[in-house]
Amino acid sequence: MPSIYDAITEDHNNHRALLDELEQTSGDSETRRKKWKEFYEDVKSHAAAEEETFYSKLISETWGQDAARHSVHEHQQLDDLMEELNGMDMSSSGWLTRFKTLKHDYEHHMDEEEQDVFDRAKQVIGEEQNDGFGMQFEARKKEERALIEQKKADSLED
Ligand SMILES: [Fe+2]
Ligand SMILES: [Fe+2]
Repeated sequence: MPSIYDAITEDHNNHRALLDELEQTSGDSETRRKKWKEFYEDVKSHAAAEEETFYSKLISETWGQDAARHSVHEHQQLDDLMEELNGMDMSSSGWLTRFKTLKHDYEHHMDEEEQDVFDRAKQVIGEEQNDGFGMQFEARKKEERALIEQKKADSLED
């Protein structure tokens, strides 16, 4: 079982790769659609799992509060940007322009989590809890993925 830090970093590396790949796509293509869906769903469930299993722990300790609030605020901004992209026509040139903003902001967010937030978290979360939190994170993420699928199925039925 990966530690909470390894589980998060592994996701980030997958997201970094998807961001690079998406930047190379053009227009309303099959590849752009497929990769965007993969990116969107994985980032959404990653952020929800982070908030519930990682930041919730950090926010309860004075030492982690600022970092946790800062990151959760960024999650909201990133989420707004992703929803904006979801509502845009993929074939418009504006899509890639907005996507590049998202790429820049999200890369910054991931770097900050790995470099700054992890350091703080290690002072709050005991080493003996690393694996347990990693397990909770992955379980929570799986549940979130299922919820996204469910929501989509519901909206198709309406
Ligand atoms: Fe995050
Ligand atoms: Fe993250």
